[in-house]
Amino acid sequence: MHMIMGYERVRVLFLLFLIPLPTVLGWGKEGHYATCKIAQEYLSEDALFAVKQLLPDSAQGDLAAVCSWADEVGHTHRYHWSSALHYVDTPDFKCNYEYCRDCHDSYRHEHRCVSGAIYNYTMQLKSADAGISSEFNYNLTEALMFLSHFVGDIHQPLHVGFTGDLGGNTITVHWYRRKANLHYVWDDLIIQSALKTFYDSDLSIMIQAIQRNITDNWLNDVSTWEHCAHNYTACPNRYASESISLACKFAYRNATPGSTLKDEYFLSRLPVVEKRLAQGGVRLAAILNRIFTSSKTRIAQA
Ligand SMILES: *[C@@H]1O[C@H](CO)[C@@H](O)[C@H](O)[C@H]1NC(C)=O
Ligand SMILES: *[C@@H]1O[C@H](CO)[C@@H](O)[C@H](O)[C@H]1NC(C)=O
Ligand SMILES: *[C@@H]1O[C@H](CO)[C@@H](O)[C@H](O)[C@H]1NC(C)=O
Ligand SMILES: *[C@@H]1O[C@H](CO)[C@@H](O)[C@H](O)[C@H]1NC(C)=O
Ligand SMILES: [Zn+2]
Repeated sequence: MHMIMGYERVRVLFLLFLIPLPTVLGWGKEGHYATCKIAQEYLSEDALFAVKQLLPDSAQGDLAAVCSWADEVGHTHRYHWSSALHYVDTPDFKCNYEYCRDCHDSYRHEHRCVSGAIYNYTMQLKSADAGISSEFNYNLTEALMFLSHFVGDIHQPLHVGFTGDLGGNTITVHWYRRKANLHYVWDDLIIQSALKTFYDSDLSIMIQAIQRNITDNWLNDVSTWEHCAHNYTACPNRYASESISLACKFAYRNATPGSTLKDEYFLSRLPVVEKRLAQGGVRLAAILNRIFTSSKTRIAQA
């Protein structure tokens, strides 16, 4: 799950020092692609139909094709407003998250964080599906692309990291022999190393391995992952709380500035990353399934 959050801030630093900008953003492209591929497998017939109606033609019916759209446009002038929606910062070393305390951008505008955005785009899609007209004319194609992306991001532990280090963006480490910041390690490098080491550099093999785990190892957990208290459509506060807890337990641990991260860190953190990709996918599907059944329920009740 990459973090554009950090990315935007880091971009400012790069501009200041006129260093070329890295081209990969957030749960990197691979992480978002995997999350959405997994989600697609779990969509109900109604949700799949609705998703296909909303996808832009360029996606050719494949949700995963547009799951990095929010990152691609996030650094353009037109969508600059969305850059704070990829992450949420929490107080340093507290290792917990609270919506009211933490969900704001750097100007302290309330609700401008990844969990606020998940509520926002869930609500837009849901009210449109239920036929409730809104005073705003939301672009539901964008709502779907933002939602699918942000559900991925919120599962990347360091998208719910500390304020002081910008979710690990200012922590410089070595990933094997390569210099990198900790946020980027979690967005991209763990996944990229896993692809090379275990999956023949083939993302579809990695996705299949995660899917196999969902259907055997984690089968009993899936309904817990999907469930939201009070039958809410989405519960981003829960996903965010899990992420900061994993950030403290796994991402920040033994990754102090200047440290070199290699096999020991890689092999113990990869299962965390793979499980978060699985949870993000399963939950995105559950959210979309709940959004796109409301109209059917309404008709049945009428
Ligand atoms: C909600 O969505 C609208 C339309 O994309 C956007 O203008 C607004 O900034 C979003 N707010 C949040 C908190 O996501
Ligand atoms: C909705 O957003 C998509 C993606 O940005 C864009 O291609 C499309 O033209 C927009 N639709 C409308 C009606 O503005
Ligand atoms: C949640 O939904 C189920 C099925 O529609 C229903 O039986 C249950 O009472 C609901 N629970 C709450 C807390 O609303
Ligand atoms: C599958 O699950 C096991 C046990 O939780 C874990 O160790 C392994 O890393 C997982 N593999 C993938 C590809 O998710
Ligand atoms: Zn992002």
